Amino acid sequence: MSNTSIDSFNLKPGRVLARKFEVIDLLGAGWEGEVYLVREISTGIERTAKLFFPQRNPNNKSIKFYAKKLHVLRHCPIVIHYSAQETITVQGQSVNFLISEYIEGELLSEFIKRQPGKRLTAFQGLHLLHSLASGLECVHAMGEYHGDLHMENIIVQRFGLSFDLKLLDFYQWKAPRKENIRGDTVDMIRIFYDAIGGKKHYTNQPQVIKNIINGLKQTLILKKFRSAGELKQYLELMAWD
Ligand SMILES: Nc1ncnc2c1ncn2[C@@H]1O[C@H](COP(=O)(O)OP(=O)(O)O)[C@@H](O)[C@H]1O
Ligand SMILES: [Mg+2]
Repeated sequence: MSNTSIDSFNLKPGRVLARKFEVIDLLGAGWEGEVYLVREISTGIERTAKLFFPQRNPNNKSIKFYAKKLHVLRHCPIVIHYSAQETITVQGQSVNFLISEYIEGELLSEFIKRQPGKRLTAFQGLHLLHSLASGLECVHAMGEYHGDLHMENIIVQRFGLSFDLKLLDFYQWKAPRKENIRGDTVDMIRIFYDAIGGKKHYTNQPQVIKNIINGLKQTLILKKFRSAGELKQYLELMAWD
């Protein structure tokens, strides 16, 4: 068995994994591995397979962490559902992958790019932030955190006045959970800030918006809200003038 690191799997459509899943398409690639849309052969159900580069998953630790976290959070509607873990051999090495539900929708980054001026209005942005905070309230209430919140890890499933969102890609940090929950809260504010036009439009945002973003100053943000639940409550009770 060779120990050279693998940085691309390059699986072609039609390839069968672990005799159970047929590759349909590559959905995305990142630091940890590659994510494919697959079809479970026995049922025809579409799923995603996240294949981890062996060097990013020593002793299968990353997968175990991710799978357990998704399982613990299975009752939170914003979290994708875990279904199984499998192993295949690629380039002579054991490669583990995680099967989870396939989310049909659009990455938040792409959704924003499609909007007029490539940004949301302040009011739409508030709804996005509220949907995000409501979804993460469940996660934080269980003492858990996401750890890597950004627009490529959020899928917009449906939108109207409110947004139906799903989170991908939880990350394990060494810092205590409380700090990570606060980290998620600051990340939500940053996503909101970027979604409504970022630096370029910040000065012209109404005061109610600035009261949430606080110039992106972490200490000021955390004085007002330290978790998704606190942020959600703030949004629901805030004064408009
Ligand atoms: N369950 C899923 N449903 C639909 N698309 C997904 C799913 N999981 C991942 N993707 C797509 O694959 C990309 C990479 O997946 P992600 O889990 O974020 O891995 P990475 O660690 O590589 O960032 C995502 O940005 C998304 O486009
Ligand atoms: Mg990701």
